[in-house]
Amino acid sequence: MFDRLSTPEEIFSYKLGAALTMEKDTLAMLGDLQESARRPELKQLLAEHAEETRQQIQVVEQCFALLGEEVDDSPCPVTKALAAEAEATLKKTDDSLVDAVILAGALETEYHEQAVYETLLLHARARGAAPVVALLETNLGVERTAGAKVKAMAEQIAVSGIAVPTEGLSGGAKAGIAAGVAATVGAAAAAASKLGERKAEGEAKAAAAESLDRERVAGTAPATGAHAPETARAEEFNDDALQERIAETEHRDQH
Ligand SMILES: [Fe+2]
Repeated sequence: MFDRLSTPEEIFSYKLGAALTMEKDTLAMLGDLQESARRPELKQLLAEHAEETRQQIQVVEQCFALLGEEVDDSPCPVTKALAAEAEATLKKTDDSLVDAVILAGALETEYHEQAVYETLLLHARARGAAPVVALLETNLGVERTAGAKVKAMAEQIAVSGIAVPTEGLSGGAKAGIAAGVAATVGAAAAAASKLGERKAEGEAKAAAAESLDRERVAGTAPATGAHAPETARAEEFNDDALQERIAETEHRDQH
């Protein structure tokens, strides 16, 4: 590894070494994220990109060979930080919602990788290193495609529901959750009517929206094993809690 960078060529090689470290870090991150992912299609996407990343590592090593240089192992703290952030966020995220965190970490990593290859490419072109340019363009293309797939999946689950599907719930459990949601909405509507004033009505609607959100998240988590806590939280947020909130609102309204 270089102690000091004194020429454009040294900067290029140093950054090429950082790209190699980046790909190795990404490969490890993809393996960890794949284990944590809930959706089979997300696991598949991460596995496919892990395989692509193994090939990208070889491509970067070929770049060093074409330049007649030893493979450099420059540091890449950015990818380590992205992996650490994803891991820390996953630890505090409900199991039913981890896929959204995984996709965020993956997309942030893909965009960083694209920026790295774009910078390497413009310098490789300036050096007239056509074979190296061709190899780096291959890697950039892989990152762009992977980034587009990750973004598409992130958008799809953001629209259709971030929490995992409800296959794990029995028919009875689904009916119970649906009834709970209906009761909560009904209670909130009654509260809005009782309170009368626009301000209070707004608060009741907000309470209904929050209740629906919590129920939806809890209701879409499997009812067994590690995901039971979400169901437990749904039971805690029952009509009593809503009535307490309504009473507080009325009390404030009277003073
Ligand atoms: Fe990548």
